[in-house]
Amino acid sequence: TTGTQDLLLSRIRDVPDYPKPGVMFKDITPLLADPAAFTALTDALAELCVSCGATKIVGLEARGFILAAPVAVRAGLGFIPVRKAGKLPGATLKQAYELEYGTAEIEIHAEDLADGDRVIVIDDVLATGGTAEASLELIRRAGTEVAGVAVLMELGFLGGRARLEPALRGAPLEALITV
Ligand code: PRP
Ligand code: MG
Repeated sequence: TTGTQDLLLSRIRDVPDYPKPGVMFKDITPLLADPAAFTALTDALAELCVSCGATKIVGLEARGFILAAPVAVRAGLGFIPVRKAGKLPGATLKQAYELEYGTAEIEIHAEDLADGDRVIVIDDVLATGGTAEASLELIRRAGTEVAGVAVLMELGFLGGRARLEPALRGAPLEALITV
């Protein structure tokens, strides 16, 4: 691993049996509280945005917002929120996705995506891939090209990468850390 990966890993806290017995929760709040680590994370994600030729950054509510907003400022690109349904005031596209129990919906202001944009999706964690997959559906339904998906952490044992592959259509999925 690189120095940046070691720094990031050292600031992610394992919380056993959260939110339920048998689950090891990966808590990124110590990383956010450490300005050196948060800056290293922001810089690394901003580099990925540049390398994949993104023109806009989509962040996924809620934890994805914390990462994507400083990355957008750092990369000099516009930020577009994908929100849980019912929070955006304008005309939206809406996409349902599966949760462990039941379904949820996310929305985007389609007018914020312009012809010729290349969008990178940023989130904290790729688990089953359901959230990221739904966000790619929204971007494609808006008629916009996907430049890639970038996450701080991929939970490899949940198979999200394989699930996401068809929706990526060759665009890169970048994870700074895989656990
Ligand atoms: C978590 C995490 C990712 C998503 C990953 O968000 O922040 O967005 O789950 O899971 P998946 O790959 O199986 O879809 P969550 O929906 O718990 O809400 P939050 O970001 O609002 O805390
Ligand atoms: Mg989330």
